[in-house]
Amino acid sequence: MITLITNIKELLQVREIPVSKVSGAEMTVLPTIKNAFLIIKNNVIADFGSMENLPEIKADKTIDATGRVVSPTWCDSHTHIVYAGNREQEFVDRINGFTYEEIANRGGGILNSAKKLNETSEEDIYEQSKARLEEIMHLGTGAVEIKSGYGLTIEGELKMLRVIKKLAENYPISIKATFLGAHAFPLHYKENKAGYIDEIITQMLPEIAKNKLADYIDVFCESGYFSVEETEKIMEAGIQFGLKPKIHVNQFNSIGGIQAGVKFKALSVDHLEIMKPEDMEALKNTETMPVALPSCSYFLSIPYTPAREMINAGLPIALATDFNPGSTPSGNMNFVVATACIKMKMTPEEAINAATINGAYAMGISETHGSITKGKKANLIITKPISSYYQIPYAFGSNLIESVLIEGQILA
Ligand code: NIG
Ligand code: FE
Repeated sequence: MITLITNIKELLQVREIPVSKVSGAEMTVLPTIKNAFLIIKNNVIADFGSMENLPEIKADKTIDATGRVVSPTWCDSHTHIVYAGNREQEFVDRINGFTYEEIANRGGGILNSAKKLNETSEEDIYEQSKARLEEIMHLGTGAVEIKSGYGLTIEGELKMLRVIKKLAENYPISIKATFLGAHAFPLHYKENKAGYIDEIITQMLPEIAKNKLADYIDVFCESGYFSVEETEKIMEAGIQFGLKPKIHVNQFNSIGGIQAGVKFKALSVDHLEIMKPEDMEALKNTETMPVALPSCSYFLSIPYTPAREMINAGLPIALATDFNPGSTPSGNMNFVVATACIKMKMTPEEAINAATINGAYAMGISETHGSITKGKKANLIITKPISSYYQIPYAFGSNLIESVLIEGQILA
């Protein structure tokens, strides 16, 4: 099957020589081809270039993209889209003056979602989660990382990871699974934290590794959740079971989580709303991708990751949604890109790089995703007719996507 896309107003993120990520000043450059064509063969990008150089080709299907921008789909490297129910009541409680921390301290927050998840059947969780997955695919996401972390029991965590596996089997989008048993301490372990960590390491991890249910390990390293020492212990155990760390750090406090992540060669360190100079320093010249989650800052009214300062210091940045019921009930990467421009002063080029190639790096798939490169998956966004790609962040409340292609197939 050969699909030809012609007359593309502008083809974004063209990388003839593949890169795995872009950092610092490189992020300001978004290579594009104006008036372009693109050929898809066997679900991958086979060729592209300027319309002047369009080769003679017999295509099975031709899409005329006159006036439209084509880009790689978004790579959302941080989500919690497998969950049960919602936390609307906590949202209203926060409007009425309670903080996220106060709500968590009275048994709400992550523990509220864990209670709901453990009371809901695997089939029902699958149904609820697949609706979210389908929604984000139509919003232009072509690869997604999904975490466990609302089970907090061996049964609950395995149930979540099986749902993630089933989603990966049933949908064409690339899905990476992350084990986040260390998301919060269950109530009955409140006075015995070491006991829960022991359960994670000696019971959950071996079972997850045996059944190949996760690619990565995550820990919520934060005051009141997991200390740096506890985070290191869990990362170390995860690594022994073949799971590379991708961890939650510096959301509310800077307590040394970044340094711990770098020490254990984490693929990414995510959140980073609170950054000290030494945190920025620790990330320099490492292979660890800093990931910002601006929709979380927006929804919780907490600071935004200081992306401008970080990029100016030569660091890379990836953008992701953090889609979850408590801090970010949205999986819209278009909104993330817009918010990064509007609130974090990233340029459109930086934000698009952060949401495509750097997002792919932060979930270990930059060899196959995140850019227009021959041989990569034909995962593409075709916009509606627009004046330029600046519209994507500028018209922040509009859906500018006309169609999404995953592995060369148009989503119905
Ligand atoms: O990334 N910070 C930790 N975990 C999630 C929120 C979890 C929740 O509130 O349910 C986050 O923001
Ligand atoms: Fe998160």
